Amino acid sequence: MAAYTITTSVIVFLYIISASQAARNLNSFTAQDESSSSMVNAVGLCSLMIETEGYTCEQHTVTTKDGYILSMQRIPASRDGTKADKPPVLLQHGVLMDGGTWLLNSPDESLGFVLADNGYDVWIANTRGTNFSRGHTSLSPSDPAYWEWSWDELVEFDLPATIQFVHDQTGQNLHYVGHSLGTLIAFSAFSKDQTLNMLRSAVLLSPIAYLGQVSSTLAQAGADAFLGEALYWLGLHEFAPRGQAVVDLLSAICKMPGNDCSNLMTSFTGQNCCVNSSMTDKFLEHEPQSTSTKNMVHLAQMIRRGTITMYDYGNTDDNQKHYGQSTPPVYDMGGIPKDFPMYLSYGGADALSDVEDVKTLLENVKDHDPDKLVVQYEEDYAHADFVFAVNAKEVVYDPVMTFFKLH
Ligand SMILES: *[C@@H]1O[C@H](CO)[C@@H](O)[C@H](O)[C@H]1NC(C)=O
Ligand SMILES: *[C@@H]1O[C@H](CO)[C@@H](O)[C@H](O)[C@H]1NC(C)=O
Repeated sequence: MAAYTITTSVIVFLYIISASQAARNLNSFTAQDESSSSMVNAVGLCSLMIETEGYTCEQHTVTTKDGYILSMQRIPASRDGTKADKPPVLLQHGVLMDGGTWLLNSPDESLGFVLADNGYDVWIANTRGTNFSRGHTSLSPSDPAYWEWSWDELVEFDLPATIQFVHDQTGQNLHYVGHSLGTLIAFSAFSKDQTLNMLRSAVLLSPIAYLGQVSSTLAQAGADAFLGEALYWLGLHEFAPRGQAVVDLLSAICKMPGNDCSNLMTSFTGQNCCVNSSMTDKFLEHEPQSTSTKNMVHLAQMIRRGTITMYDYGNTDDNQKHYGQSTPPVYDMGGIPKDFPMYLSYGGADALSDVEDVKTLLENVKDHDPDKLVVQYEEDYAHADFVFAVNAKEVVYDPVMTFFKLH
């Protein structure tokens, strides 16, 4: 495995620190022409990442109840053209990423292609605010109101909209696969018994429900900055990872004692055992992606408090106004229906989905029907390995497909 070990700072969102000058020139990424944002992007993940590998791809758009127009891609057949004969699978990426997450490695290694080649009908979601999901029925990404959401709204709107869409298009219940934030929104929805009537099972990679033990010093320093200067950050509305504000934040964090930015990938996600460093360029072509600063502040609240609640407006009046109570409502992980099939896979080296936090989650679901809960622990794996490791097919995806066959 040593040959594949990533040894540099290269592939993560936070690569920008070491290239902050270059990043200044990349602002076109976020300052892209928004005039066409209400239209479907003709250029999309289908033409950029899927058809290029020889697969058929369908481009879809889904409008959420609060007006966001999301792009979705469907891979309905294997590379040799055999139509899918297994159930639909919805892939939901994490924060600062988009659907490209599932397509960045070679077809033999990337979950999106592996599933298609194994007969599954693959559907890829792209969260609001990412490059191909920036449309809205009445708002533009240049409007502050466009960014007035955190992951609470992904639970309430994006997740149900995409699940419902796949269900309606295929006439079938589906399997769900989430990575990182894609697990947080799923756990939260499941805890309220939402969307489960359309799901066969869920696979949660780098599961996140609690963040209080996050061992990434960069994530902790970021959380302090977001909470310490919440007004400043919220005033920016869009959290654009290649934008100047974020570059400046990272520079400041990296000057603080104890923060090792010589290897940002490792400092942020943990030491990934098995990511192919040759994928760097392709990664940087497609990621990182924007989210709302409110979402980042919400995650910072979780890191600093160890809780899993809705967004805290920071004062009783505003919480009262939004929630009818003085504190934000809690998502009760114990509320996840005990007979819902779940496959949790977590890594011993993951600095974001920390082992201690996963233990807290497992404690909360300890009464889950044992036949309906698979827990996989991979000692060597860190956060990015679950989606980018060169051996992820053998280590994670093959067992996941075995799990799917049972449900
Ligand atoms: C790593 O990436 C390079 C370039 O895409 C590729 O040639 C090589 O086969 C990859 N190695 C593995 C183990 O996937
Ligand atoms: C964003 O979308 C445009 C097309 O609208 C595309 O040319 C560009 O490569 C995309 N950028 C990223 C980072 O995905």
